[in-house]
Amino acid sequence: MTQYVGAIDQGTTGTRFMVFDHGGQVVANAYEQHEQIYPNPGWVEHDPIEIWENTQQVVLDGLEDAGLEANQLDAIGITNQRETTIVWDRETGKPVHNALVWQDRRTTDRVEELQDAGMVEEIREKTGLEADAYFSATKTEWILDNAEPLKMSSSRGRDLRDRAEDGELLMGTIDSWLIYNLTGNHITDVTNASRTMLYNIRDLEWDDELLAEFDVPKEMVPEVRPSSDEDYYGHTDADGFLDEEIPVAGALGDQQAALFGQTCFDEGDAKNTYGTGSFYLMNTGTDAVESDHGLLTTIGFQMSGEPVQYALEGSIFITGAAIEWLEDVDLINNAAQTAELARSVDSTDGVYMVPAFTGLGAPHWDGRARGTIVGMTRGTSKEHIVRATLESIAYQTRDVAEAMEADSGVETTSLRVDGGAVKNNFLCQLQSDIIQTEIARPEVDETTALGSAYAAGLAVGYWDTVDELRDNWQVDREFTPEKEAAEVDKLYSRWDDAVEKSLGWARD
Ligand code: G3P
Repeated sequence: MTQYVGAIDQGTTGTRFMVFDHGGQVVANAYEQHEQIYPNPGWVEHDPIEIWENTQQVVLDGLEDAGLEANQLDAIGITNQRETTIVWDRETGKPVHNALVWQDRRTTDRVEELQDAGMVEEIREKTGLEADAYFSATKTEWILDNAEPLKMSSSRGRDLRDRAEDGELLMGTIDSWLIYNLTGNHITDVTNASRTMLYNIRDLEWDDELLAEFDVPKEMVPEVRPSSDEDYYGHTDADGFLDEEIPVAGALGDQQAALFGQTCFDEGDAKNTYGTGSFYLMNTGTDAVESDHGLLTTIGFQMSGEPVQYALEGSIFITGAAIEWLEDVDLINNAAQTAELARSVDSTDGVYMVPAFTGLGAPHWDGRARGTIVGMTRGTSKEHIVRATLESIAYQTRDVAEAMEADSGVETTSLRVDGGAVKNNFLCQLQSDIIQTEIARPEVDETTALGSAYAAGLAVGYWDTVDELRDNWQVDREFTPEKEAAEVDKLYSRWDDAVEKSLGWARD
């Protein structure tokens, strides 16, 4: 029987299960979307139970479609939408509230309090992060303050914090939620821990002062392990949905998984993933490089028994989701149509679209920025808006690419790209023009799932070394700049003006 490695990729809009062979080729692929819950403007929730049910379903569907048995999996890796936070009951496994999604802005006021209290520097120094509602700390605090205590005998009317202090409640990001449900153990990996704003990325431990600031009892945070763990996080339950004990041995936040899947193992290697948002990460080796230009310092990955590798990250909140929005408002029927519509006009005729639907991340960090379209005239057409939306993806990437070069001192000569939107050749060419850099698209564009499969497969010895994996990376197509730098710079200079208009829009 041929053996493989499986990967669960739990993303913002859906859950995917993929199986990879030794050459890193896809053997199975199943996907299921889940509901996006918007209880109030700026609030975004997911139902953790739906996510767990979908996870089991896609694993079973993926295996069945490919005609595989569960025992053909040597290991399972996990990768996930990061920062999204769940609090659940240790005993029953029931969440006390819906997950607060990374895009959720409900704790913006709390973040402004931290800013006013002068805590920004301390947070940046310890966690590498900008004080922002994006991360898990204020989300956990909000759940503990606001979720209705569950009506269960063990709660005896006590509030959630008391129960958390007594070790009855657990918190975690989606990786922890899945590891807990798959193996019964409460574990996270270093990359996901580094997105909580509670974890000290230099000392590599939960930070007592930050836990105290957000009133998060230490009893409820998960144990932190390497991203690829020879000790395994646990095994699936032989009596569970898979009927087999499979080691769960690798986990990375989805953007770090894509970095790993793109084989960006060395200092200076960089990738940009175009999903709901876009996340541009550069491996900075064992140095946690501080950013002076609005980027995050984060953990890239850690192999069993090896030091942590750090990364600089430019987090752009909305890129692919801007294309979804075009569909929601009926400007397009499907994402593929954007290339054809954008190509049908020579330019946007001066229209700029800033998709700051959930505030702006790097390098602006403005939770109150909101989506803006500027420069419209009576002659503005749907095609101009569609083109401006694609251009906004490329301009936002240039914002973070410039910050990355300034912080790292490394000039990017070739950028590896992945994610759903890179199927769009028009976007890839546009991106190459706007950042005046070669864009390299790999053959396997599901590099997020691949990265977590690599992490799990290395832990169980399915692959022996990362060098083996480098040979699996094959280019599908390269895009080189076709436009002159001066022409692009002129267009880009007005982008800044458009961004200015969107800043601070959602004032109280
Ligand atoms: O930090 C948020 C990021 O991990 C979400 O990624 O691919 O689900 O949009 P994605």
